[in-house]
Amino acid sequence: MYGEFKTPSPAGTYVTLRLSDDTGKSQVMMSDLYYERATCVEVVERAHGDVLVAGLGIGMILHPILRKEAVRSVTVIEKYQDVVDLVLPTLPASEKLKVLLDDIYTWKPRRGQCYDVIWFDIWPDIEATRLPEMARLHRRFRRYLNRANPACWMESWHRQETRRMARQQRNAKQTPQSPLSVQPEESA
Ligand SMILES: C[S@@+](CC[C@H](N)C(=O)[O-])C[C@H]1O[C@@H](n2cnc3c(N)ncnc32)[C@H](O)[C@@H]1O
Repeated sequence: MYGEFKTPSPAGTYVTLRLSDDTGKSQVMMSDLYYERATCVEVVERAHGDVLVAGLGIGMILHPILRKEAVRSVTVIEKYQDVVDLVLPTLPASEKLKVLLDDIYTWKPRRGQCYDVIWFDIWPDIEATRLPEMARLHRRFRRYLNRANPACWMESWHRQETRRMARQQRNAKQTPQSPLSVQPEESA
């Protein structure tokens, strides 16, 4: 549960996508629990025109986005073939949708292509250390945002909360220890 999204998910059945690294250690990359839904409402609401999404996950946001008449096309960049193989067949068939197997850090839109909405969601959870990665993506993709459209929008998943977390950690480091504070003794 993160920040302002503390409401627990009601009892029910949920989908979880776990990814394993080379050592076999796995972690939850995406689920459709309440806080995931809550943190994706804005992108669904803002989606219109040509939309670029980094990170297929379970394709949760694609269902409502593809249903929107205001959406002309959705291009999804996903790094892992296994995720594409697993999730693509669960998505509604739509001529609007294109899923490309690539890494968002190196993939480039074709010359002249612009997007009205760009959404980066490639992280399994919130870590303050991800802010520079988000900044890098925003810098790289700024030029592909359709600036002629006043409603154009580019965002990373939970960036506000990530910033808040980074601030908290910085403040905690800067707050000097009171000389009267009692330090727990280390056990032998
Ligand atoms: C949190 S999930 C995305 C959730 C998705 N928006 C949804 O609605 O279900 C993150 C996804 O990003 C993918 N991913 C991670 N790093 C990536 C990268 N560098 N480029 C493209 N996709 C990446 C992961 O494999 C995973 O499928």
